[in-house]
This record gives sequence, C-alpha cells and structure tokens, in this order.
Amino acid sequence: MKILVIHGPNLNLLGTREPELYGSLTLTDVNSALETVAAELGVELAIVQSNHEGAIVDAIQGAQGVCAGLLINPAAYTHTSVAVRDAIAAVSIPTVEVHLSNVHAREEFRSRSYVAPIAVGQISGFGVDSYLLGLRAIFSHIKLRL
Ligand code: DQA
Repeated sequence: MKILVIHGPNLNLLGTREPELYGSLTLTDVNSALETVAAELGVELAIVQSNHEGAIVDAIQGAQGVCAGLLINPAAYTHTSVAVRDAIAAVSIPTVEVHLSNVHAREEFRSRSYVAPIAVGQISGFGVDSYLLGLRAIFSHIKLRL
C-alpha cells in the first residue's frame, strides 16, 4: 500500500518558522517520524513538499491509480485553494487533512478549510503527532474499506 504525503507552502521552513506555533522539528524530522510509523504499518510513503499550488495539484493527479490514500497538510492553501480541493475530489483518493497548529484556535480565516468537507477527517493542533495520527487514521480507513 502506497500513501502520498503532501506538505504545502512554507513547511520547508519548519524548525525556524514561528517555532512557538509550529515547534522546533524540521521537515526532515517530521518525515523520518512518518517513515518510522509507515514501516511499522507496512506502508510505503511518497513524500512531496511544494510552495506552488499547481505542483500540489499535479502531485494529487499523479497519485490516481498509484496511491491508496493521501495525507496532506495544505498549509495556507487549506484556506484559499479551490484547485487543491477539486484535485482531491477529482481523484477520489481518501484523504486526511492535518495541521501542526490548532487552526480553529487562531485567526478566524484559518477556521475555514476548502479541503475538510471532502476529506475523511481533519487532525489539527498536535504538532508532529497530527501527522502521525493522520497516517494511522488513513491507514485504518483504507484497511476497513479493502
Ligand atoms: C498550518 C496552519 C495553516 O493555517 C498555515 O497557513 C500553515 C501551517 C499548520 O500546520 O498548522 O502554513 O497548516
């Protein structure tokens, strides 16, 4: 089973970017924690980070027929991108949306997600654990449907 992990814009700066909000782990740290859980579950990960909306759309389209699930932190595109939402809806790959910070406890504009209504669910506010819980959640969801 292969799962696509997408990190949206500015997440390449994790570790130095507003650490009081996003913690001190780097994106490499997050990815290696994900790989540890993936090995435990016996799943393969394809991991992509992009600051570009079109590149994220391309990665989602490219997962059709290849990946059984999508774990995505769309970052700022969560709150703005109809294109990312439409790409996920178009490929019909079960998706879990994750956020490091609790988007519902911050500025009001962060409470709106274009992705959440078409996702299996959203996990927000647990730092790197949002990703790890999200990976376990998408894995269980797919397993139940097999
Ligand atoms: C974020 C929350 C978003 O609102 C923000 O734009 C990000 C990171 C998070 O992981 O907490 O870039 O997705």
